[in-house]
Amino acid sequence: MTSHDDYDDEYASFEHQLDNETDQDVEADGDEADVDEAQGEDGAALGLSPDPVLLHDAAHVWHPYTQHMQAPIPVHVTRAEGAWIYDAQGRPILDAISSWWVTTHGHCRPEIVAAIAAQAATLDQVIFAGFTHEPATALAAELVSRLPRGLTRVFFSDNGSTAVEAAIKMSLQSFANRGTPRRLVAALEHAYHGDTFGAMAAGARSVFSQPYDAMLFEVARLPDPSEGDTVAALDALIAARGAELAAVIVEPLLLGAGGMRVWDERVLRALRERTRDAGVHLIADEVLTGFGRTGPLFACDRAEVSPDLLCMSKGLTGGMLPLGATAATEEIFDAFRSTDRTKTFFHGHSFTANPIACAAALASLELLDEESEDERIRLEVAQARHLETFRGLPGVRAIRQIGTVAAVELNAPAGYLSEVGRDLSAYALQQGVLLRPLGPVAYCLPPYCTTDDELARVYSVLHDFIDGARATTDPFAGAAR
Ligand SMILES: Cc1ncc(COP(=O)(O)O)c(C=O)c1O
Repeated sequence: MTSHDDYDDEYASFEHQLDNETDQDVEADGDEADVDEAQGEDGAALGLSPDPVLLHDAAHVWHPYTQHMQAPIPVHVTRAEGAWIYDAQGRPILDAISSWWVTTHGHCRPEIVAAIAAQAATLDQVIFAGFTHEPATALAAELVSRLPRGLTRVFFSDNGSTAVEAAIKMSLQSFANRGTPRRLVAALEHAYHGDTFGAMAAGARSVFSQPYDAMLFEVARLPDPSEGDTVAALDALIAARGAELAAVIVEPLLLGAGGMRVWDERVLRALRERTRDAGVHLIADEVLTGFGRTGPLFACDRAEVSPDLLCMSKGLTGGMLPLGATAATEEIFDAFRSTDRTKTFFHGHSFTANPIACAAALASLELLDEESEDERIRLEVAQARHLETFRGLPGVRAIRQIGTVAAVELNAPAGYLSEVGRDLSAYALQQGVLLRPLGPVAYCLPPYCTTDDELARVYSVLHDFIDGARATTDPFAGAAR
């Protein structure tokens, strides 16, 4: 292990140097010459050799969810293993958020690496309209055997947002194809379903959607079940507009990006009953909750609920390659079978069912065995124990947990742009832990291979941050410097 202190000094001076360079020489439209110049002059004068990856990054890359005027220089990562990622200096960083909730078994798990390598050498990619292949058919069959009962058809896409887009379009078009069009979708407050337009429309209106709000289609909003009476609101909606309502979309039992809000299985069961009685589709967005995150393979399993459509991505490949999948009932699939070609589901992506991604997913499914279940239970119990130590602390507003996901809501202004989240993230990174709070909500969502000691490290960083904060009069001022 490298010394973090040395690293911090080095990083700070490098950051300063790079700031000067990017201001002077590397504009957003900079080319190779700009980069060479930036590397050559100031860098040489300071006796440092800047990292070309960071120079090219500053000159040419646009990062997701990043305010480029303010964001710190990104960490240049060169490799990963297990629960750890490593930067260019070899400094280890504990990945407590599974790299945006995708890494299930751990980074670079050899079994998945081998499956990817073998598949890449055999069949890399092929158009999936008019052609099929074993990795996709085997994966569809394996998924169907594990999915909640009644989900028999699998449609492949690339990511979580497209899995959601496909589900919404399948629901709407199935009604239209049957000659009984319905155009209304209902979704939860605090929901997040992705960043494409349909997924954004279903998601809560927020700082994410604000520039596009006027262009998003109408969605009936039901209360977040952790706060309000969702079932009563759905009853009222069905009474008023039942004939228009095509689908209710939910993140089952855990509203993720909306603040890791956990909600009751009984509500999910009631939503299933009400939607079934009203002939309305229930769409379960399991992009986050799928593949063991909440304990069982799917959150719907916890509530013994079978939705009409179920969206998967993130952990589908063990987090190694992008792949999305939307599972549908035979009834929905049947609404598209017709001699009338206009009733086709005209939706697809260039990389639909990419064989390498499917092979990764098959290898990942095999790893979700009893041993993995034991690991998840171990993590769940260990997280619960750590969470107890936060109960009642003045800096803490609430604690929440479901399965391997644990959240500590800090006593700070709400909202995604809350400063405390940024401060905690910076502080944790200094301590060698990757945390990315959702506003004031710090959460730990680790790969299943994370050991008890590694987990203890995450919580000790969080405790230190909160303790530091408590020592000041302003609850969180200066806490993360
Ligand atoms: C519940 C849920 N649905 C959909 C998405 C979108 O997935 P992607 O980022 O792969 O488009 C996310 C991403 O966080 C999610 O949490």
